[in-house]
Amino acid sequence: MGKTITLVVFSVCAAITGVTATAGNADKDAIKEGKRLTLEYCQACHHYQGTEQAGTVAPPLLGMKGRFPDRKTLYNIIYDPQVAIKKDTMMPPFGRNELLAKDEIEKVIDFLYTL
Ligand code: HEC
Repeated sequence: MGKTITLVVFSVCAAITGVTATAGNADKDAIKEGKRLTLEYCQACHHYQGTEQAGTVAPPLLGMKGRFPDRKTLYNIIYDPQVAIKKDTMMPPFGRNELLAKDEIEKVIDFLYTL
């Protein structure tokens, strides 16, 4: 009897864990593409985990989810930092200048949230 209950509890836990893991892995391709885009467009100025030749003119990209829990805030910074940060920032307006498409910015954010 005791064994049956343990088994049931274990199965339920495994099922829940399985669901969570699937949701977490759903964006794997997006994160991979975001990583590539970040290397191409952001590394020149920003240091972040995994970079070896990053620029230092900008603040390091770290603890992104904790510091920017609202995805929209991060989106706005990347889309148009002249509006979201300050008028004379040297960071390029990736969205406004169409350097990155909206879905590409989303992928960059998916990657940034792993930092
Ligand atoms: C030409 C240099 C440059 C490039 C390229 C650049 N940034 Fe920036 N970024 C800056 C600077 C400088 C700041 C700091 C704001 C300021 O004071 O001007 C900044 C600030 C930020 C911030 C706010 C950081 C914080 O801790 O408050 C984020 C987020 C950010 N950048 C993301 C990105 C992403 C993502 C990319 C690539 C798509 C990128 N940046 C490309 C120069 C750059």
